[in-house]
Amino acid sequence: MKRWAVLAAAAVLLAAPHAGWARMAGPEDLSKARIHRGAGPGVRIAGVTGSYPDAEPHFHSGATLACSDCHISHASQSHLRDPNAPGMNEPVPYPGNPNPNLLRAGDPLDLCLTCHDGRTFAPDVLAEDANQLTQRSAGFFGTPDTQNPHGHDLGHALPKAPDDLCIRCHWGSPDDRKVTCIDCHDPHGNGRARNLQWASWPQGTPELGLFSSPLASGMARYEAANVSYGSLGSEALREVTNICIDCHHVFSGDWYIDPDGNGIHNRHPSFDSERGSPNTISQGDARGTTVSSHWVAGTGSGFYGTTRVRPVVPGATGYAAAKVVDANNGVFCLSCHRAHGSDQDFGMAWPLSGGLTATGCDQCHLKANVVQPVPAVVLTR
Ligand code: HEC
Ligand code: HEC
Ligand code: HEC
Ligand code: HEC
Ligand code: HEC
Ligand code: HEC
Ligand code: HEC
Repeated sequence: MKRWAVLAAAAVLLAAPHAGWARMAGPEDLSKARIHRGAGPGVRIAGVTGSYPDAEPHFHSGATLACSDCHISHASQSHLRDPNAPGMNEPVPYPGNPNPNLLRAGDPLDLCLTCHDGRTFAPDVLAEDANQLTQRSAGFFGTPDTQNPHGHDLGHALPKAPDDLCIRCHWGSPDDRKVTCIDCHDPHGNGRARNLQWASWPQGTPELGLFSSPLASGMARYEAANVSYGSLGSEALREVTNICIDCHHVFSGDWYIDPDGNGIHNRHPSFDSERGSPNTISQGDARGTTVSSHWVAGTGSGFYGTTRVRPVVPGATGYAAAKVVDANNGVFCLSCHRAHGSDQDFGMAWPLSGGLTATGCDQCHLKANVVQPVPAVVLTR
């Protein structure tokens, strides 16, 4: 989109009586425009403790933020570390060059990947899983700097969020339509689930309803089966996909999914409490668009070969409550997509193609209503 077109569109939106978009800052300063209005403390949050224990991050936050994991003060050392001192066994003398912000790598992406790719002491977020989890909750990325049809593309030297976030997709180079870890994760920890943040306004990030099982420990905390999602529908606790709208701001909210407000959707509904657009699986029962009794029963069409997709559970503030299957569960981005990516087109959580019918969609819809189990699909984890 050309720069003037975005500016014009922003002006139109600002004029429109729609609460969601009235939130954007003046179009004359789009580079600093915010998708969100008010929430968290409004000043840089660091190492705070959240209000919901099951959402609390266990690493890179507060007492678990170890500066030397990521920074090196002089990029030089004359002798080896004291082998008896606690530490991450980082290579010393330090082999690299001094980098901006004293980072241990030239680009934040490479920094994160030194531990988050192919290591057994930290979650592996790239390609095959060194920890051999059954299914990583966030899925996985492909090779940086290459286009990955199966999810987010990782890139180096991207226009920096928050100030230059919008130009990644608007009037920037197509090569900039990529992401880096510190768009979505606060490297210094913010007490939010997985240290997730609003890319366009990190300091405003509210509490986020992503819960890990309190019974899981170590790498099992990152198993898809041990993660559930809730939302209080307010700034007290937002659904975790509230961080997606910083970039994907046209895929949720009534303004976009049902522009004429007649209840017949133009884009698939996705739970967006901030922009006044929650949903429940039972909301389509009367018209027959959804069949919540089928979702609750959990067998038959849609459930053959595809385990139950993960819903967002309104009202849930902890892991167990967000595991309760109910007609009032909602559908949101992570019901269908894995946050990092997957082995399927568009980072889908189940196979979109391949000749199989009714794999995930029929869990809520019952349109194909197949009666025979389809052959099991073996997915890469
Ligand atoms: C998980 C990795 C990681 C850890 C651990 C970490 N940092 Fe950082 N730090 C970064 C990254 C990445 C940047 C660059 C941020 C950017 O480019 O926006 C940074 C930037 C900084 C900056 C300058 C910019 C800013 O945000 O203020 C300071 C100061 C800093 N870190 C201090 C610390 C201190 C002190 C600790 C330990 C208490 C620490 N960091 C721990 C990754 C880390
Ligand atoms: C020196 C190694 C190291 C580096 C560098 C590193 N991490 Fe980590 N990270 C870890 C370890 C270890 C864990 C915790 C594993 C566990 O749960 O036992 C972790 C956990 C995490 C978690 C999950 C936190 C939670 O409790 O839910 C996130 C998110 C994360 N890292 C992001 C990042 C990002 C983003 C960067 C780059 C700015 C980064 N890490 C750099 C070692 C590292
Ligand atoms: C910092 C900006 C940013 C955030 C935040 C963000 N995305 Fe994206 N997303 C992008 C960009 C840029 C692309 C297009 C290029 C690519 O595939 O990475 C994209 C592409 C995608 C795709 C298509 C992938 C493909 O293979 O074509 C999906 C699905 C997606 N995002 C889902 C999400 C979900 C779910 C969230 C929230 C958990 C999210 N995104 C948050 C920037 C973002
Ligand atoms: C991941 C890519 C991506 C990012 C990042 C992004 N946008 Fe967009 N934006 C889009 C898409 C896609 C559209 C719809 C374009 C169309 O329909 O032609 C759009 C449309 C718009 C429009 C037109 C009105 C509308 O809602 O359809 C405005 C204004 C806008 N974006 C502002 C912003 C601002 C401000 C930011 C930064 C906070 C931003 N965008 C970041 C992808 C992005
Ligand atoms: C587009 C936003 C986005 C980007 C970019 C991103 N993450 Fe994540 N990440 C998430 C979300 C959302 C989750 C939680 C997803 C869930 O559990 O459904 C997550 C989860 C994680 C976890 C926990 C493991 C898991 O499978 O749940 C780690 C570790 C992590 N991210 C590290 C990273 C690192 C390292 C990078 C860069 C290579 C990165 N993330 C880039 C959004 C992002
Ligand atoms: C009901 C399942 C479902 C939900 C919910 C859902 N998606 Fe998707 N998404 C899909 C499918 C299927 C595709 C493949 C392309 C298509 O059908 O438009 C897709 C495609 C995408 C793409 C690629 C679009 C493009 O232009 O290439 C992005 C980005 C994306 N989704 C992001 C999101 C975000 C962000 C959310 C939450 C606000 C979300 N999706 C919610 C099923 C879903
Ligand atoms: C987790 C539950 C869930 C899953 C999985 C799901 N949907 Fe939906 N879908 C809903 C809900 C809830 C609605 C809103 C129903 C309503 O308001 O009438 C909806 C609405 C729709 C509508 C629009 C109905 C209308 O006229 O407004 C279509 C079409 C649709 N879904 C197709 C799909 C497809 C295709 C897939 C698989 C890619 C899918 N859905 C997966 C829950 C789901």
